Amino acid sequence: MMKHADLLIHNIGQLVTLAGPPGPRRGAALRDPGILAGAAIAIADGRILAVGKEGELAATIAAAATLDAGGRAVIPGFVDPHTHLPWAGHRAAEFEMRIAGATYLQIMAAGGGIARTVADTRAAPLATLVAETRGRLDRMLAHGTTTAEAKTGYGLNLPDELKQLEAIAELQRTHPVDLVPTLLPAHAVPPEYKDRPDAYVDLVIREILPAARARWQTLRDDFPADWPLFCDVFCEVGAFDLAQSRRILEAAKRLGFGLKIHVDEFAALGGTLLAVELGATSADHLVTTPAEHVTRLAASDTIAVTLPGTPFGLGQRDYSPARALIDQGAALALATDLNPGTCWCENMQFIIALACRAMRLAPAEALAAATINAAYAIGLGDRVGSLEPGKQADLLILDADDYRMLAYRFGTNGVAKVVKRGRVVSET
Ligand code: NIG
Ligand code: FE
Repeated sequence: MMKHADLLIHNIGQLVTLAGPPGPRRGAALRDPGILAGAAIAIADGRILAVGKEGELAATIAAAATLDAGGRAVIPGFVDPHTHLPWAGHRAAEFEMRIAGATYLQIMAAGGGIARTVADTRAAPLATLVAETRGRLDRMLAHGTTTAEAKTGYGLNLPDELKQLEAIAELQRTHPVDLVPTLLPAHAVPPEYKDRPDAYVDLVIREILPAARARWQTLRDDFPADWPLFCDVFCEVGAFDLAQSRRILEAAKRLGFGLKIHVDEFAALGGTLLAVELGATSADHLVTTPAEHVTRLAASDTIAVTLPGTPFGLGQRDYSPARALIDQGAALALATDLNPGTCWCENMQFIIALACRAMRLAPAEALAAATINAAYAIGLGDRVGSLEPGKQADLLILDADDYRMLAYRFGTNGVAKVVKRGRVVSET
């Protein structure tokens, strides 16, 4: 019997499926990209109907339209599982100070850093916040990101945290990139609570998280069914200590949020073990993580999200111990950490190129970390991140016949066409 497809993408020289058993890729499986040569992919209703050798598919599929991949490589759309996407303004002056020698934590202590972006984001009307954020999302899509996580955390009070959540929902409604929202009211202690961090933690627990959860119920229709919602905490010297992080994440868990945590970016406070203990979906940053914590994380279900753009953006020498994590069996993912302070990078291709050089990932490992494992890091591993029947038809036709070109060539856009839910949404 012939099956009917809306679109058949054919003449794919190298189809990188990232197919595999359910669950994130670990160990040797991270190195198996699941390549098919001379392949085609059939799409119906925005989902993948079939993947296979071109000749076999042509014999069983009747397609309403075709797209010739021109012998080039096709890979899953990138999933960026850690971004601070909705903010207003920029901090170019601070970048210049950092280059001259000021540290990130010194700038933060002097009232710059996150506090500066909080002031700009609070002052911006929703429409401005959405417009600035949309520009970033357009560039992310053009560079191949088809799904991204998006954190609040530049409001730090109830109305402005909700404004950021509304901005994420409006973009989900009006932009092709799928967004997974994360509440991050514990990103910094706001100026009004300067010497009373515990009082702010109380506010987060008693007011901001419950109100955000209630607002989410009314915004759910903008998102696909059963869509995840996360809560994150910046566990760091100068932000929230381990006890405060625990209080917030335990409260968030009771409210039904999935959990994420910024750990070991500058100082190792024990956040990685807290993530494992609480069953967090991901532990993110992981730069100064002690060896015993690496071992515990590697043996857990918590995804290790590494963000090499951040040490690069800060001009630091130390990166996450990604090799130790992988070699001990961790489910490693890659993300941009897109934010106005430490890493304004909208391009997952650059993150892959950097991961291969600075963290010694093989190109196949970096690609799996930026697709299938990244999808698991935001609770969407069963929907996106690989090219398998039933999954969303989110894929990239590269400007190359070999996916390793993504890691090898850098600084220009190696994505020729972006297909989101079966439609070409970006072409370069
Ligand atoms: O992931 N670590 C905290 N948050 C961001 C930086 C945010 C900012 O500086 O605005 C990060 O590096
Ligand atoms: Fe971050």
